[in-house]
Formats: sequence, structure tokens, C-alpha cells
Amino acid sequence: MKKMLLLLTVIIITVSWYGCQYKKDAEAYPVSTCDTSNIRYSVEIRAILQTNCLVCHGAAVYNSFGGGYNYDTYTGILPNVMNGKLLNDIMQVPGSDPMPKGAAKLSDCDIAKFRTWIRNGYPNN
Ligand code: HEC
Repeated sequence: MKKMLLLLTVIIITVSWYGCQYKKDAEAYPVSTCDTSNIRYSVEIRAILQTNCLVCHGAAVYNSFGGGYNYDTYTGILPNVMNGKLLNDIMQVPGSDPMPKGAAKLSDCDIAKFRTWIRNGYPNN
């Protein structure tokens, strides 16, 4: 009986300790606030391109710095969206051509926005 009580005490202490740890983790790493509920080409996607890509892939510079890929327009971006290269490159999967070239990888949220927009059928909205 004493042994049972001891075991029960140990179990209760362990469970409540892990319970507290879990709460601490939840406070330390709040759930991501990335909103992918309404991704439009003209707003969210365009903003990511503007900030991270158009310095090389912009209309005036893409031939000099962007390998000939003009991402200043919807039709310009379509071929590499449709063949999957754009998503692979920003996700920097092995064997891809990591983008943005020479800069930090896009945030998980920006990548999630691109993925959502592509999954939605890359509308020109
Ligand atoms: C510093 C300049 C620079 C920036 C910034 C940049 N690119 Fe590029 N990108 C290039 C160049 C140059 C090429 C041509 C291929 C090469 O040299 O790697 C290229 C090629 C590509 C390709 C085609 C490569 C392939 O896989 O065949 C894609 C897709 C691409 N870029 C997407 C992007 C996206 C999306 C961004 C922004 C998140 C971006 N790039 C930012 C310079 C840049």
C-alpha cells in the first residue's frame, strides 16, 4: 500500500511538472500569426516580390541582374510558377536555384503565402 502511494505521488508530481513545462513552452513560442486566409497577387504576393525579388527581377533590371526573368508583371511570373521552379527556389529545396540570390531565405510566413496562392491556382487578383 505504501509503495502504491509512493508511486501515485511520483506520477502526480511528474504529470503536473510536465503540465507546467508545456505551458511555459506555449508562452515562449506563441502560435504563429501568419494569416494566409486571403492571399491576392496584387497585394500580398506583390509585396513579397517588391521587397525581396524586384531589385534583380524588376522590369528595368531583370536582363542585367535577374537572369532574364521579369517578375514585375503577373504574366512574367507565371512560367516559373507553373513549372514549380519559383516555389522550389524560395523553399530552397535540394537541387533548386536558391532565391533570393545571395540574401536570407524568405520567412516561413512569406513562403506559406506563396504556397497558398499557388495552391489556390495563382489567381490574378
Ligand atoms: C540578387 C539578385 C536576385 C534576387 C534578389 C532574386 N533573384 Fe531570382 N534570379 C537571379 C538570377 C541572376 C537568376 C538567373 C539564374 C541564376 O543565375 O541563378 C535568377 C533566377 C531565378 C529563377 C529561375 C531559376 C531556376 O530555378 O531555373 C527563379 C524562379 C527566381 N530567380 C525567383 C526569385 C524570387 C522568387 C526572388 C525573390 C524571393 C528572387 N528570385 C530574387 C537573381 C536574383
